[in-house]
Amino acid sequence: MKEVPMAVEASGVCFTYQEGTQALTEVDFRVRVGEFVAMLASNGSGKTTLIKVLVGLLKPQKGQVRIAGHELCGTPPRELYQRIGLVFQNPNDQLFAATVEEDVAFGPRNLDLPDPEVERRVSEALESVAASDLRHRAIHHLSFGEQKRVAMAGVLAMKPAILILDEPTSGLDPAGEETMMRLLNRLNRQQGITVILATHLVDMLPLFADRIYVLNRGRVLSHGPAEKVFGDYDMLDRAGLRLPYISTLLHEMKRYDGVPINGLPLTVGEARKRLMELIPEELIVKRIERI
Ligand SMILES: Nc1ncnc2c1ncn2[C@@H]1O[C@H](COP(=O)(O)OP(=O)(O)OP(=O)(O)O)[C@@H](O)[C@H]1O
Ligand SMILES: [Mg+2]
Repeated sequence: MKEVPMAVEASGVCFTYQEGTQALTEVDFRVRVGEFVAMLASNGSGKTTLIKVLVGLLKPQKGQVRIAGHELCGTPPRELYQRIGLVFQNPNDQLFAATVEEDVAFGPRNLDLPDPEVERRVSEALESVAASDLRHRAIHHLSFGEQKRVAMAGVLAMKPAILILDEPTSGLDPAGEETMMRLLNRLNRQQGITVILATHLVDMLPLFADRIYVLNRGRVLSHGPAEKVFGDYDMLDRAGLRLPYISTLLHEMKRYDGVPINGLPLTVGEARKRLMELIPEELIVKRIERI
């Protein structure tokens, strides 16, 4: 079978800020083309620093970063930003034009694309974040959640192959969080965009992430699929993280009440399936009849 090529490859990365904080220590972080990978860590663990190193905003004192097989420091910025789209945590750091349309058009215009192509990209990008109706609105009148989606449209209009997002769900309400994660999932699964995101939210990751990197104090503590990462309680504890709530509930039912649940369900869907397996069929039928 042919190996899927690497989209992003950081090896042995060390980064220390000028005033002396060592933010990253010997970080190895690899993402293949088409993967959906999360950096999961508590505050101050180095997520934003690693993202900045991956996109070339910070230069590591030690180690290397390769993007799509090319050495990061040798890639011209213009080429790099067509390949990688970075979505900042705070949309205010990203949005600067007066209107939504101008802001989203800025990147494609800078590529000297013809007007009809710019127009097409703006429409498509706004549509993909469900923000077509915001097109003529003033940026400073938008709600925080709307600003986040528009900032993402601006990045998508550059048609990046790799999307890197710093806490894309922070500041969003629960419905907004889910909409954002579903949108990222769609971009990944339908358009093949490689998605890398930093987060400290554990509950939605098992549904969306192919792999998770857990960082703590600038080091990678663990990486792998959700089942592996969330199966290691001691490691999660050391990282200042917790299990998804649904897993905590089932874990406690198993441990304290002796409920014979197989494995550790990580999503509501899995938990429902496991619990339903334990309920006698007649009871389920009766309940449905009563409704
Ligand atoms: N510009 C800076 N100068 C000095 N130290 C910094 C700077 N930015 C971050 N740090 C330090 O580097 C470490 C990692 O910070 P970083 O912002 O990468 O963490 P994070 O995981 O993104 O945290 P959060 O979840 O709060 O966003 C922290 O100890 C932080 O105080
Ligand atoms: Mg951060």
